[in-house]
Amino acid sequence: MLTSGNAESLLIGISRSMVEVRYLIRQVAPSSASVIITGPSGSGKEMVARAIHAESARAAKSYVAVNCGAIPRDLLESDLFGHEKGSFTGAVTQKRGRFEDADGGTLFLDEIGDMPADMQVKLLRVLEERSVQRVGGRGEIAVDARIISATHRDIDEAMATQRFREDLFYRLAVFPIDLPSLGERREDVPQLVLHFLQGGTSGVKFSQAAMDRMVAHSWPGNVRELRNVVERASILFPRMTISAEQVEIILHRRGRVSNAERAALWEATERTAPTCDAIEVPEALQSEETLPEAPSETESAAIGEAPVDLRKMMADLEYRYIAEALRASEGVVADAARLLSLQRTTLIEKMRKHGLAKAA
Ligand SMILES: Nc1ncnc2c1ncn2[C@@H]1O[C@H](COP(=O)(O)OP(=O)(O)O)[C@@H](O)[C@H]1O
Ligand SMILES: [Mg+2]
Repeated sequence: MLTSGNAESLLIGISRSMVEVRYLIRQVAPSSASVIITGPSGSGKEMVARAIHAESARAAKSYVAVNCGAIPRDLLESDLFGHEKGSFTGAVTQKRGRFEDADGGTLFLDEIGDMPADMQVKLLRVLEERSVQRVGGRGEIAVDARIISATHRDIDEAMATQRFREDLFYRLAVFPIDLPSLGERREDVPQLVLHFLQGGTSGVKFSQAAMDRMVAHSWPGNVRELRNVVERASILFPRMTISAEQVEIILHRRGRVSNAERAALWEATERTAPTCDAIEVPEALQSEETLPEAPSETESAAIGEAPVDLRKMMADLEYRYIAEALRASEGVVADAARLLSLQRTTLIEKMRKHGLAKAA
């Protein structure tokens, strides 16, 4: 485990490859060597970058991250190197670039494989000179930034087809770290699940069967997908012990919620009803310790002694789905409606009902 790492840079995993990655991080952190991190999306590349920064002598200085694939070419140059006032339409003020922001600290260049060819040339020059020239500027500004880059792409192939400059690659890849997909290190799954459960306050637990189902999954979205699954479980089944069937339901939700899923979800919720927080629990049972255990997966459907308010439970479930869809779509109602297979207007109506939208 990384010693000085805070929660944000704590890399979980007992697999041989994760032990190795933590070792590599510890070895490379104190130097200022350029590190390139490769691995599929969601495998933890950004986390490794943060960990290296946190473990380095630069930890007290800035860690600056730039996604080279997400920023349009014209903006990327001024974002990285800054610009002088009036250097182009829209450059109404002078602006420092990310390189300058990262002076003394670390600059994380994410998705470096997507960097346009002419920007690759400029970046190489900056790395060689250790100074930047702002767009529209004349003077050179010396910068001392430790460069960590990352790519999910096969950079060898990009070089073979001349889409990525070899000279730049060798500048960036003084120290390469490769992260395997989560599917290649499933022994890390249980520890990751526990780790992400600890972060929340929902009181959710995974039964052994549920954990086995998690380990058996192929995790195409890697650790990010696992984190989302745990988060969904916490939203949908707070304070419950999750069953393998409930994991199955959550794993197979690909955005869209089908009628079959809704029915299955409802059934699963009903079955574990005695610990669902939407139910009125008798006063004597309200402390955490005395809450009844969820029925085991083999037990037949059972509703506890306490009365079940079906309408309230359904409304609660609807609320959770809508809140989750809105979060997944970053508040874009049209996208959330699509995730829920609802008309936009129907969703807005429901949002009003649940106090999730301002009244018109
Ligand atoms: N080994 C790990 N231990 C704990 N959390 C991890 C680990 N690897 C990835 N994560 C988490 O998974 C998510 C995706 O990781 P990220 O570093 O953004 O992946 P990438 O940059 O490769 O797409 C983040 O929330 C990150 O905190
Ligand atoms: Mg990333």
